[in-house]
Amino acid sequence: MEKTFVMVKPDGVQRNLVGDIVSRFESKGFKLAGAKLMQISQELAEEHYGEHKDKPFFGELTDFITSGPVFAMVWEGENVIATARKMMGATNPAESDIGTIRGDYGLTVGKNVIHGSDSPESAEREIGLFFNEGDLISYNKDQDQWIY
Ligand code: PPS
Repeated sequence: MEKTFVMVKPDGVQRNLVGDIVSRFESKGFKLAGAKLMQISQELAEEHYGEHKDKPFFGELTDFITSGPVFAMVWEGENVIATARKMMGATNPAESDIGTIRGDYGLTVGKNVIHGSDSPESAEREIGLFFNEGDLISYNKDQDQWIY
C-alpha cells in the first residue's frame, strides 16, 4: 500500500494543531504507520530541503524548520501521496482553498503549518530520512472488533 511522509511544522505544533491534523487524516480513512515528535537538526533540515538549497529562502526555511519541534508522520492508503497534498492545500496559504489544512490555518508561505511529500520518489526518500524501518508498524484495522 502507498505511503507518504507528512510533517506538522513548528508553527503547527506551537498552535496546537497536531490533533486536528491527525484527525483529518484518520477521518479521511488513511492509516497511521508511524509518528514522532522530534527536533530536526540543521543537518537533517539541509538534507530534507536539499532541492531548495540555491533558493533565496533556503536559510529562512531551515531556520524555521529547526526552530521548534515538528510532528513527523507516515500515512498509508490508496493514492495517499496525492490525496494528502490535496488535503494540505496550496503551498501559499493565500492561495489555498478554505477547507484545506493550509487554507484553514496557514499564514504565510513559510509558516504554512504542514509539509507532505510531492511524489512517490520524495515519499520514499523523506520516510527514509525521518524513520527507521523498525519504526513503521504494519497492522490491520478491524473496526467491527472494537465498535459495538
Ligand atoms: S519552489 O521554489 O516553488 O520550489 O518553492 P515552494 O514549493 O514554493 O516552497 C518549497 C518549500 O519552501 C517553503 N518556503 C519557505 N519557507 C520559509 N520562508 C520562505 N520565504 C519560503 N518560501 C517557501 C515552502 O513552505 C515549502 O515548504 P514545504 O515544507 O516543502 O511545503
